[in-house]
Amino acid sequence: MVTPPGLGTGPPGHRFLGSLSDYNADPLAFMTDVSRRYGDAVPLRLGPLHAVLLSDPSAIESVLVTQNRSFRKARGVRRLRTLLGNGIVISEGEPWLRQRRLMQPAFHRASVARYADTMVSRTTGALDRWRDGATVDIAVELRRLTLEIAVETLFGADVTKDEVRLVGDSLELAGAQLQTRVSSLLMFLPDWVPTPGNRRMNAAIARLDRLVYRIIEDRWRSLGDREDLLALLLAVADGDETGMSDRQLRDEVITLLVAGHETTALTLTWALYLLARHPAADATLEAELASVLDGRPPGLEDLPRLRFTEHVISETLRLYPAGYLTAREAIHDVDVNGYRIRKGNLVLMSQWARHRDPRVFEDPDAFRPERWTEGLEKQLPRGDYFPFGMGPRQCIGASFAMQESVLVLAAMHLRFRFELASNDEAVPIPQVALQPDRPILLRLAVRGERVSGQERTEHSVDD
Ligand code: HEM
Repeated sequence: MVTPPGLGTGPPGHRFLGSLSDYNADPLAFMTDVSRRYGDAVPLRLGPLHAVLLSDPSAIESVLVTQNRSFRKARGVRRLRTLLGNGIVISEGEPWLRQRRLMQPAFHRASVARYADTMVSRTTGALDRWRDGATVDIAVELRRLTLEIAVETLFGADVTKDEVRLVGDSLELAGAQLQTRVSSLLMFLPDWVPTPGNRRMNAAIARLDRLVYRIIEDRWRSLGDREDLLALLLAVADGDETGMSDRQLRDEVITLLVAGHETTALTLTWALYLLARHPAADATLEAELASVLDGRPPGLEDLPRLRFTEHVISETLRLYPAGYLTAREAIHDVDVNGYRIRKGNLVLMSQWARHRDPRVFEDPDAFRPERWTEGLEKQLPRGDYFPFGMGPRQCIGASFAMQESVLVLAAMHLRFRFELASNDEAVPIPQVALQPDRPILLRLAVRGERVSGQERTEHSVDD
């Protein structure tokens, strides 16, 4: 392969496939090894695709921020169009900018604050169902909880339990089929080809669409005085002379459901897993919660003082970033900080590899929430730690996700101790998001002091 100017040499790879099979065998290890061995801008060939793996933080910032107009989202993301339509994760150019501007105010920190009570009350509801001594598959529990929170913050409280289940089941089914397709040659098969998988996926999406369109239609009829996200979207759609069609509303609603719940559920799963393996950090968290909350459930006003809780989340997002890879495609030939990127080439920026760079983080594989205490995040170049991406396409839900993660973790940790039911190490696998390769089974033990204002109740052992 002829190396474009400014780029180092890359791994030799296979004559026809380049590094594709090495990448597919273990994408996380591949990205880390290649960046450490070959440097900050490494040319790669992945089957038919030419790519550059960027690890230079200022070049990453250039691609995502200052020179973002020279790039668009990569093919893999566009494949999700079947489910997400033209929602803001996928759209580009003017339509994206318009939607982003319309939706942005609903996600400012101050707007998101109004959802704190829903986040806590839904968590308390889940905790009330848990029993002392029981063992839970924590990823499953958290996925259910974050979906309930996402549905209620989007649609309000009047969606039934069955409808929440329908949303969860449909998203899971469609997600599984899309995942199979993104990671195999089926990627090139159109959605209408009636393979059994495509049929199941299309049926799941149709069920979901029926529900979402029905809710949108009901809500147009009585806009009322609501504070949920759909109300905000309808208000801007209503007031916007160019109009947001019901189809666009559907795409944004499903985009928010998809982007907004699994990522947070996985972050909380990894956080509880890490805490269960690190008793000292667990004890520090316990002490913070005891002193700040004094036995009552957390609320919005506690957030500024739940510093260590927040650092646990920041450190979890460093070690297990749900968004482990950000990819862009060059729209034209472009020079990025002296690295020449050709039109059509992919630029890969790996949160996984950047967050574990030993030049940036001391003892990078160690879980140390206290490393964030001295305002580390503000001192770091942005390309060294970017769990929510950066630039105009930065995660719109970052404040929502941080607020939810801190409140849910605090509420759970206050009520229960979590012990690993097995000592096996969970291995992260890069699917659409970074998930554990096995169920994380946690044994629950009610903490000695019960939440004040509630009666001390006996809990039965049910496993
Ligand atoms: C811990 C949880 C989360 C993580 C780690 C995460 C991560 C990310 C990342 C890395 C991106 C940028 C992708 C890129 O540049 O290609 C992104 C975009 C996005 N996220 Fe999140 N996210 C999380 C939670 C949420 C939540 C709660 C919501 C909504 C309520 C959300 C909605 C979105 C949307 C709509 C985009 C696309 C923004 C655009 O392109 O304009 N995310 N997220």
